Parts: sequence; structure tokens; C-alpha cells
Amino acid sequence: MDPRPTIDSGVFRQLMGRWATGVSVVTAREFEVDAGLTVNAFLSVSLAPPSVLVSLTREADTTPLIERSGRFAVSLLAADQRALSERFARAISPAEKFRDLPFHRGPHGLALLNGSLGALECRVVSHTPAYDHLLLLGEVVYQELGPGGSPLLFYRSGYGEARGEDTVRLPPPP
Ligand SMILES: Cc1cc2nc3c(=O)[nH]c(=O)nc-3n(C[C@H](O)[C@H](O)[C@H](O)COP(=O)(O)O)c2cc1C
Repeated sequence: MDPRPTIDSGVFRQLMGRWATGVSVVTAREFEVDAGLTVNAFLSVSLAPPSVLVSLTREADTTPLIERSGRFAVSLLAADQRALSERFARAISPAEKFRDLPFHRGPHGLALLNGSLGALECRVVSHTPAYDHLLLLGEVVYQELGPGGSPLLFYRSGYGEARGEDTVRLPPPP
């Protein structure tokens, strides 16, 4: 069998769009400059030690900054933080991303977004190249729980949100 069968990239995109995720903002800091990007390729890896993985495109400005500084933070976005997800996904300067942003610093100096469901600071323990992405494994060095609430969701290339405990609003089908 052909080791690399032809996989239609449009169908693959559609298929991956059927995988519902939460949305996070990953932040980093180097030479007292903050940077960050919106990330949904985020998962917990192990409980002992507590560790997480993020998959970042090499094209993002934040990726080399995390490689150099060896640290990143993850803020888990609440349903009412869609505008922050959009802001951190834009190709704008870090200064614009952080302008008037309500955030506080964790004990390791990284920016944690106020109003998030929770946030982590991580020390990078490995970075593995994966095609045009970099898989960053981070050991959790600080964690905090926000006040709680509903999560922002990403599904079918659009935003959804939980409304209360029984209702989920999904983006319309394409
Ligand atoms: C909902 C959503 C999820 C995203 N998830 C990722 C991701 O997991 N990894 C990634 O590299 N980029 C992801 N992006 C794209 C980045 O946020 C985007 O490329 C960003 O502009 C990079 O910023 P930077 O160049 O300032 O670092 C996502 C965008 C959106 C809207």
C-alpha cells in the first residue's frame, strides 16, 4: 500500500473542525516584552508531574520567543472572552495585543489574563519539531483557578459557547 495515501486537505480541515475544543491564550515574555497568541492545540499530558503540551506554528512570532525563554503561560478563556481570542489571533504587534489588556503576572513573571477560567505557568521541558509546528511540552510551575463560569468553544472553524449548564450555542454549519 502507498505509505502516503492522498488525503484531501479540504476534507481533513472539515474533519478537524468537527473536533470541539476550548480556546486558550498562550503568553511568553523575554527582555521585559510580552507576546502571545490564541491556541486551541492544547492538552494535558500527565498528572505526575503536572504537564501540558501546546502545538505552535513556527510562523508565529511568539514561538521562537518561547524557545529562547524556556517558559510559557496558558490562560483558559471564558465564554465572554471571545474578543481576546480574536485579538491574540490577529497578525498585530505584541504591543497592540497587550494594549489596555486586563492581566496580572504570575510568580514567574508571565501575563495571565484576568477573567479566565484558570491559568498555568510552565517551564519548557522539551520542544519537538513537527512539520511546520513545534510541540512544546511544559511542566506546570504555577497554577490558579479563576472564578469559574462557561468556556469559550471552537468548533467548525467558529466560536461557540456554553450558556449555563444545559445549553451550548454552536457556530452554524458551513
Ligand atoms: C481559535 C484559534 C485557535 C488557534 N490555535 C492555534 C494553535 O493551536 N497553534 C498555533 O500555532 N496557532 C493557532 N492559532 C493561530 C494564532 O493565534 C495566530 O497565528 C497568531 O496571529 C500568532 O500570533 P504571533 O505571530 O503574534 O505569535 C489559532 C487561532 C484561532 C483563532
